Amino acid sequence: MKVTVVGAGNVGATCANVLAVNEVANEVVLIDIKEGLAEGKAMDIMQTAQLMGFDTVVKGITNDYSQTAGSQVVVITSGIPRKPGMTREELIGVNAGIVKSVAENVLKYSPDAILIIVSNPMDPMAYLSLKTLGLPRERVIGMGGALDSSRFKYFLSQALECNANEVEGLVIGGHGDTTMIPLTRLASYKGIPVSKLLPAEKLEEVAQSTMVGGATLTKLLGTSAWMAPGAAASYMVESIVKDQKKMIVCGAYLDGEYGMKDITIGVPCIIGKNGIEKIVELELNEEEKAKLAASEAAVRKTNANLYEAGILKK
Ligand code: LAC
Repeated sequence: MKVTVVGAGNVGATCANVLAVNEVANEVVLIDIKEGLAEGKAMDIMQTAQLMGFDTVVKGITNDYSQTAGSQVVVITSGIPRKPGMTREELIGVNAGIVKSVAENVLKYSPDAILIIVSNPMDPMAYLSLKTLGLPRERVIGMGGALDSSRFKYFLSQALECNANEVEGLVIGGHGDTTMIPLTRLASYKGIPVSKLLPAEKLEEVAQSTMVGGATLTKLLGTSAWMAPGAAASYMVESIVKDQKKMIVCGAYLDGEYGMKDITIGVPCIIGKNGIEKIVELELNEEEKAKLAASEAAVRKTNANLYEAGILKK
């Protein structure tokens, strides 16, 4: 079982590390354009193998995609991260070209791979990859919702003063500070709706903290976060390679679900060996539907840039 992670920056290296520590695959290829970077990160990870007790082999490669051949899953983290004060959408000019060429290279050597897109702006980058490669929608998956839902559960557990693993919560919509939608109405603690446990103002606070979760970390760290983004991508890879069929919110290309077509946006999906095996349609109330419509409009606006810049053709 071979998994490739493209981009040996903070997110890519963390993802490779989590894949190794959790023995999600027996071989992980970490590839980067910068001479020696992937080799260095891979060697550093491998020097923890005896300490952590894992058997996964992580290999670092500079730019030679032939070494990624036969990967079952490929995680694409390439591109620049945001700096404090930037939105994810502002990265599109630089990252679109990078993601497009990476996706093409990856597919040349792993024609059957399932792609997980992490690069920002995540939903448009997943949309771009799918459109460029002409792959079935099952095989191109955006990572945003897995990360945002994990952050939501973290903030809920802080508010509830409880174990985050005992909290359920979904964040749908785009992976943007103003486009993500934490579904507080459906969140629960051990099956108890959180709306019964927390006052409405507190829940609103949790939702707001979740939405700017990435921006808060970018301000604290001076660059965007990597621990949870890397782990979220690994979590998705694991559900694919072990055919776990977990329900994970992912950037999925919609073809009529939630009343949308020709857009990649965060919705709950069943993730298994075939990638997106099912899109789960939640019954949303009017307020949630209105938020999703606003999120859709914002994501479409960013996608439009890809056509205006000629990166995608109608
Ligand atoms: C974040 C970046 C990875 O949310 O989008 O931290």
